[in-house]
Amino acid sequence: MALLPVLCYPDVRLFKVAKPVAQVDARTRKIVADMAETMYEAPGVGLAATQVDVHERIIVIDISESQDELMVFINPELVWASDEKKSWREGCLSVPEYYDEVDRPDRVRIKALDLNGNSFELDADGLLSVCLQHEMDHLEGKVFVEYLSLLKRSRISLKMKKRAKELASPF
Ligand code: NI
Repeated sequence: MALLPVLCYPDVRLFKVAKPVAQVDARTRKIVADMAETMYEAPGVGLAATQVDVHERIIVIDISESQDELMVFINPELVWASDEKKSWREGCLSVPEYYDEVDRPDRVRIKALDLNGNSFELDADGLLSVCLQHEMDHLEGKVFVEYLSLLKRSRISLKMKKRAKELASPF
């Protein structure tokens, strides 16, 4: 396994639309293992392949407190979303140290492939629902800050660019 660098907003590679995985094989499982390691190390509750510059439709999520319940979604599709919405304070490994409220459908049903290439459906609510929608947005090239006002977004971009500069040359 290997830790992968996570792209930081507003890196243009975060705006790419990911391609479906044609075949779930050893190569896919290697990407998933690396993504999981990267997510746990961060630590984060979810990671989309787009964020590690792999433009394939793969998501890993672990919302358990013990961080030992890895969920893998390959080629995830939204089957249904509730009309009812809910607001959550979201964060993202690609937008470090920034959190803000986003409105999304409260409950969703999604369809995806597992690590063996088998199709499954899942009903999600609460944090899992938010997480799935947030990560599926990444695969469409959409970062959660795009739900916020233009003013907030430009402030975040400036903050992230400043942060990247500081990290590159701390002195
Ligand atoms: Ni994110």
